Amino acid sequence: MEKNPAERELLSDERQGEALVLEGIGSGKKLYMESYGCQMNFSDSEIVASILQKDGYETTTSLEEADLVLLNTCSIREKAEQTVRTRLDQFNKLKAAKPELKIGVLGCMAERVKEKFFEEEKLVDLVVGPDAYRDLPNLLEEIDGGRKAVNVLLSKEETYHDIEPVRLGGNGVTAFVSITRGCDNMCTFCVVPFTRGRERSRNPQTIIEEVQQLWADGYKEVTLLGQNVDSYLWYGGGLKKEFTKASTSAQASAVHFADLLHSVAEAAPQMRIRFSTSNPQDMKDEVLHAIAAHENICNYIHLPVQSGSSRILKAMNRGHNREEYLDLIARIKRIIPGCGISHDMMAGFPTETEEDHAQTLSLMDAVRYDFGYMFFYSERPNTYAARKLEDDIPTEVKKRRLAEIITRQQEHSAERTAAYVGQTMEVLVEGRSKRSADDLYGRTTFNTVVVFPREKYQAGDRVMVEIVRSTPATLLGKAKGLSL
Ligand code: SAH
Ligand code: F3S
Repeated sequence: MEKNPAERELLSDERQGEALVLEGIGSGKKLYMESYGCQMNFSDSEIVASILQKDGYETTTSLEEADLVLLNTCSIREKAEQTVRTRLDQFNKLKAAKPELKIGVLGCMAERVKEKFFEEEKLVDLVVGPDAYRDLPNLLEEIDGGRKAVNVLLSKEETYHDIEPVRLGGNGVTAFVSITRGCDNMCTFCVVPFTRGRERSRNPQTIIEEVQQLWADGYKEVTLLGQNVDSYLWYGGGLKKEFTKASTSAQASAVHFADLLHSVAEAAPQMRIRFSTSNPQDMKDEVLHAIAAHENICNYIHLPVQSGSSRILKAMNRGHNREEYLDLIARIKRIIPGCGISHDMMAGFPTETEEDHAQTLSLMDAVRYDFGYMFFYSERPNTYAARKLEDDIPTEVKKRRLAEIITRQQEHSAERTAAYVGQTMEVLVEGRSKRSADDLYGRTTFNTVVVFPREKYQAGDRVMVEIVRSTPATLLGKAKGLSL
């Protein structure tokens, strides 16, 4: 079920519309689940599967045989919500023929729309926000009693730290490990602080144990996940905002993101480690030094910027301006030579002028990103931008600017991948290429996708591959032997 990452790149505005159908486990009542949106949602679905497995559910990929259908939803842009509504219409047709079928909405859209889902035409039995998944078994009982069930309470503590996710729909090689939940940054365009609540960090010991368990289970790469991993902070529990009130000893022994990286890298020295997402205003040089210090931490940073114009960045409440961002990029390139860097970029934020847009393109020229996820601005209810700023850039202008950004990125991607031709690089194999069963695909430390003839190799192998050809999104190569 895992998509070839090459296909995820560049087509960014489609990214959030993709669904992953989760397959495979257990016995008993049948659960069919689809996940939309960010990696955190996919990771959350594995937590939901774990909670429901204990409640007697088995997952299925067949909608027809499902007793319970769950949609883990995304609210980040209007289009993501439209996709969910369309999908609910389709499920409702099924329910018309099979009234005992239960349909539930989870995730960010559940949190945003809340019980209003019940007032719409759609037949939804269950609405559960991102912090309420432990309540699912009770809520399902409510439905059995003939009631509609809803829990959209956000929590200041919930990190699901003790729940061992059921790894679904994966490749058996790479896995997500969630380390923080929520976000306190309040970028003015973003709905996440409203749908996922306050930022909180997970107990580092449980993170390390989960990574070690994954290694024991044969996994070879983990991605540490959070909306803003750089602001990870553990001082014995509690919100980041309350850290100043903690005891002096708790403050002194606090674990920051760089400390966590060191600990995870040392606890699983053969495991490849990635993390996402970094935020420019919170990323410390200690994190860069941690990456440089450990062979097993991948040399790749996803560093969203959103705009190249300091005026727009200020209106977005990004906490960094153009110069600070470019300074950080320079430090990354100095401390981690050759580091792969990707971005999120947004076209058409309110008041964006052609000059602001030109600065976005010139920032891209200065950085020369490996790839990016690119979007046009979509006004989201309740955000600061929706309340205070007019969505004044016409759709055609937003689309034209986005197209220019994508074209520029394709040029840079082509340039970055072409530079690898002739090199021999270690590739962690993730599986068979989608295009040909005779080829394998995997990624380099820089997160570039490499496709090469299968020969004797298989998923999970670290193979030295000589790069012979490149496209903007993919390197093509030939295996030279297993990596030592
Ligand atoms: N820190 C988060 C960001 C989540 S949103 C993370 O873990 O990735 C992912 C990206 O969606 C943002 O970086 C931004 O580029 C885009 N985005 C967020 N809100 C948006 C909006 N209202 N309209 C268009 N794009 C948006
Ligand atoms: Fe959203 Fe900004 Fe947080 S983009 S998730 S508010 S860092």
